[in-house]
Amino acid sequence: MYRRLDAERLPHHVAIIMDGNGRWAGKRSLKRFFGHQQGAEAVQYVVETASRIGLPWLTLYAFSLENNLKRPKAEVNFLMRLLKSYLTNNVQRMNDNNVRIQYVGRTEELPDEVRERMQWAAEATKRNTGTTLTLALNYGGRSELVDAFRRLAAEVQRKGLRLDQVSEVDIHRHLYTAHMPDPDLLIRTSGEMRVSNFLLWQIAYTEIYVTDRLWPDFRGIHMLEAIEDYQRRERRYGGLNDGTESDDVESLPASQLAV
Ligand code: IPE
Ligand code: IPE
Ligand code: MG
Repeated sequence: MYRRLDAERLPHHVAIIMDGNGRWAGKRSLKRFFGHQQGAEAVQYVVETASRIGLPWLTLYAFSLENNLKRPKAEVNFLMRLLKSYLTNNVQRMNDNNVRIQYVGRTEELPDEVRERMQWAAEATKRNTGTTLTLALNYGGRSELVDAFRRLAAEVQRKGLRLDQVSEVDIHRHLYTAHMPDPDLLIRTSGEMRVSNFLLWQIAYTEIYVTDRLWPDFRGIHMLEAIEDYQRRERRYGGLNDGTESDDVESLPASQLAV
């Protein structure tokens, strides 16, 4: 274990926005495709580090719904080819590392041969009990919420439920991630200070870590640095820190309470 990590306070779930492949290539006067290729290489290093430290959940934003809609067809096709070859070439290593793979997103809209390979990889690794690697593919946070609300509305109708009984738990139950804990830590590479429609519901209280390092240069050690930073944070979930004495408002003179 990386010596600076507190083994008692590891996150349960780390999510990563893998950004910067195009910029990595641009800095070398290469086509964006080379950046994606190097980015795919970087994935397995990080997955294996997650497995080594016993991280239960690692979720990687690999391809957004907006990427699918807004990028040139040639780039989208290349990303699909890369995904297929990543799966083909890495299932054995996932098995060696006890890693199980699954997916979130509107994956039914992906090309058939990609979906077949995805199913094959999920099937081949489903008995592994270490890290669960979740790839977000054709994923959008808002469309996940639309899908969840549609399913919830159907359930409300079918069961004749009262609307004032619908709670956060019911929304959570219909998310793609219903069986997963929310991320404790969200890492974004290449410096952009935005969420880009990733896990909008789930990151309500997630700690965010942004690094300028471009995704193809990101390795396991950099995830460990992010986790180390996370371990220095104090999570309050809207409450007070442990040990903070609550002010006794009742005993203050009215003059000190003017607002
Ligand atoms: C991230 O790299 C990978 C995908 C979104 C598929 P980008 O392709 O967004 O790279 P930049 O942001 O243009 O550098
Ligand atoms: C987010 O990166 C999506 C993925 C990493 C798959 P983008 O490059 O698509 O995000 P924006 O366009 O900079 O917000
Ligand atoms: Mg980008």
